This record gives sequence, structure tokens and C-alpha cells, in this order.
Amino acid sequence: MNIPEKKGTDFLGESRQKRDPQEAALRPPSFSDFTGQRKTLERLQVMTGAAKARKEALNHILFHGPPGLGKTTLAFILGAEMGTNVRITSGPVIEKAGDLAGLLTNLQEGDILFIDEIHRINKSVEEYLYSAMEDFRIDIMIDQGPNARSVRLNIPRFTLVGATTRTGLLTAPLRSRFTLQTRLDYYSREDLVTIIKRSCRLLNVAIEHDGANEIAGRARGTPRIANNLIAFARDYAQQRADGVITRSSADSALDLLEIDAFGLDEMDKRILRVMAVNYAGKPVGLGTIAVAVGEEEHTLEEVHEPYLIQEGYLQRTPQGRVLTARAYAVIGVVNPELQNA
Ligand SMILES: Nc1ncnc2c1ncn2[C@@H]1O[C@H](COP(=O)(O)OP(=O)(O)OP(=O)(O)O)[C@@H](O)[C@H]1O
Ligand SMILES: [Mg+2]
Repeated sequence: MNIPEKKGTDFLGESRQKRDPQEAALRPPSFSDFTGQRKTLERLQVMTGAAKARKEALNHILFHGPPGLGKTTLAFILGAEMGTNVRITSGPVIEKAGDLAGLLTNLQEGDILFIDEIHRINKSVEEYLYSAMEDFRIDIMIDQGPNARSVRLNIPRFTLVGATTRTGLLTAPLRSRFTLQTRLDYYSREDLVTIIKRSCRLLNVAIEHDGANEIAGRARGTPRIANNLIAFARDYAQQRADGVITRSSADSALDLLEIDAFGLDEMDKRILRVMAVNYAGKPVGLGTIAVAVGEEEHTLEEVHEPYLIQEGYLQRTPQGRVLTARAYAVIGVVNPELQNA
């Protein structure tokens, strides 16, 4: 990889793969290995097919959705499909217009620039991205004072693939420059079973169908969590059973991790309990919940809330977050509304 030696420009791709070789090994390399997200996949196949036939660069694409659902994986698949390089960076490390210019001018025709956490890009840099995406050039100021002048840099036709967990934080002008904005959803249990069996095959882990089904039901619809649970369930089966992940060994392993039958973890349940007990089911603001459970607001909003909302435990209202009847059942607290009835 041809990496410009620029201060403040960190290419996450390599360091991340070094940090987590298993994650890299389990990444499906092509559309045909990728399970689920059918609508997104079909949209991407239409776009890549057409771009290849026209011998043009792919149009800009934005992925949004909760963490661990396959945004980075899809960016790599797009690169493989188009036969181009994928350069990886992330919003917060592009601090200055110069960093962006360095990245863009080092691209080759057709390359994919993947910007993770694109909502965290510096606002002053963001404006340079507009002309880069639209006109494939940037006008950059060099020098200061009386010598200050603007220099125009032409950029090869590249494809920007952006990923964000928070599409609401993206400015409208940036969002509108992506031809395709596509949302990744939580995976169905069935799709997760397929993904879990595939991962086990690659890792040489023995798993029974019922074991895969048990893990799938408790993985919060998220392949990354499923893969992590496999790793623990495998250790558990090795230490406490005969090495095979069965329904019962998976169940015991996940109980030990305090992940319940619905896939809710300790933090999820703490959130629901605080709302039910401390606030008696009244609407609560996000900041209040964050302090009460000792977690960052943005983690609650990006990681925990989407799943709790999707599974119908929590609702977002103008007054604050409120619990549903289902939430009381899962934490075993009596619903105060029913108590008074
Ligand atoms: N459809 C899928 N089939 C099989 N494995 C998948 C699929 N989607 C994701 N994975 C696995 O889940 C892991 C996480 O995926 P990925 O890194 O692409 O998520 P992400 O959306 O980029 O997450 P983040 O928002 O945290 O960056 C990868 O190791 C990959 O193996
Ligand atoms: Mg990612």
C-alpha cells in the first residue's frame, strides 16, 4: 500500500487488522459470501455491475447503521468487485484540509476511499470534501498573510465510501453528495445461523445446528457479536464439555457471560432497570440515563438504544425515553401502570 507519510493521517485498515486478525479472517471477501442485507446487496450489485460495464468509477456510497453489521466488510467487497484499491481512514484523523489533500492526491483512478465514522470529520475539512466528491478537485490555500494564495489540485476520479453509525449527525450537503445512502439492519436469526456456521467452518470449530441457533438468538442481530460469542463458546466447550458447541454448552457459556435468552447484556438490563425502578417508568432523558448507568451518552445512543428500540423495549418520545410493557417483563419488574390499575 502506498501510504503518504503524513502526520495526523492514520490508516486504520492495517493497524486494525493487526489488532484483530480474527475479524479480518472472518470477513466475507465477496458478495456471494456475504449473508443478509439483501436490499443493500442488490443495490450495490446493480451499481457495481453498471459501473464496470461503463468502465467508470463507482458513484459515492454511504453506509449507515449500528456497529458490527458489515460496513467495513462491504467497502472491501466493493473494492474486490471493482478490482480497485481500498484506502481506509476515519473521520477524526482527517484534521486539516492538508490531510485530506494528501489522501486524495495519492489515490489512483477508480480507487475507493473508505472514511469510517464520517460524521466525526472536522467541519472545516468537510467543505473541501464537497468539491472533491463533485468536481474531483480541491482548492487549497497555501501560505499566509500577503503571500496567501489558492492552489487547485485535480484528483483522480475516486469513489468515496462513507460509514457512519449516526446518519443524523451528517450535514445535509455532505449526505446529499452520496448517490446511494443505504442502511444496514440487524440480521435475522436465520441469517446469523448461516454466518455462525461459516465462521466456525473457517475457524475449524465444531458446532451443532442447535448450538449455532442458540448463539444466533443471543447475538443482538450483529455478526461481530456472534463471532465474539463463538470464540467464548468454543473455549467453554473445550474446558467444560467435549469440545463441540451444542445447544446446552452454548447456553451455559452465554449464561456465564450474563447474556440472557433475548441477547440483552448487563448494560442493556441496567438501562431498563434504572428507567423502571429509579424513574418509575416516566420519560427519562438520555443524559440522565447515561449518568445513572455510568456509560457514555453516545455509546448508549449508538450501541444499546437501537437494539432496545428495534426489539420493542424502549421508545423515543419528545419527552424522553420510555419503557414498553415488554421491558418490564424482561427485567422482572412490575409495571407501575399495571400496579395502579
Ligand atoms: N454479512 C456478513 N456475513 C458474514 N460475516 C459478517 C457479515 N457482516 C459482518 N460480518 C463479520 O462481522 C465483523 C464486523 O463487520 P464489520 O467490521 O464490517 O462491521 P462494521 O459495520 O464496519 O462495524 P463498525 O461500525 O464497528 O466499524 C467482521 O469480522 C465480519 O467478519
Ligand atoms: Mg467498520
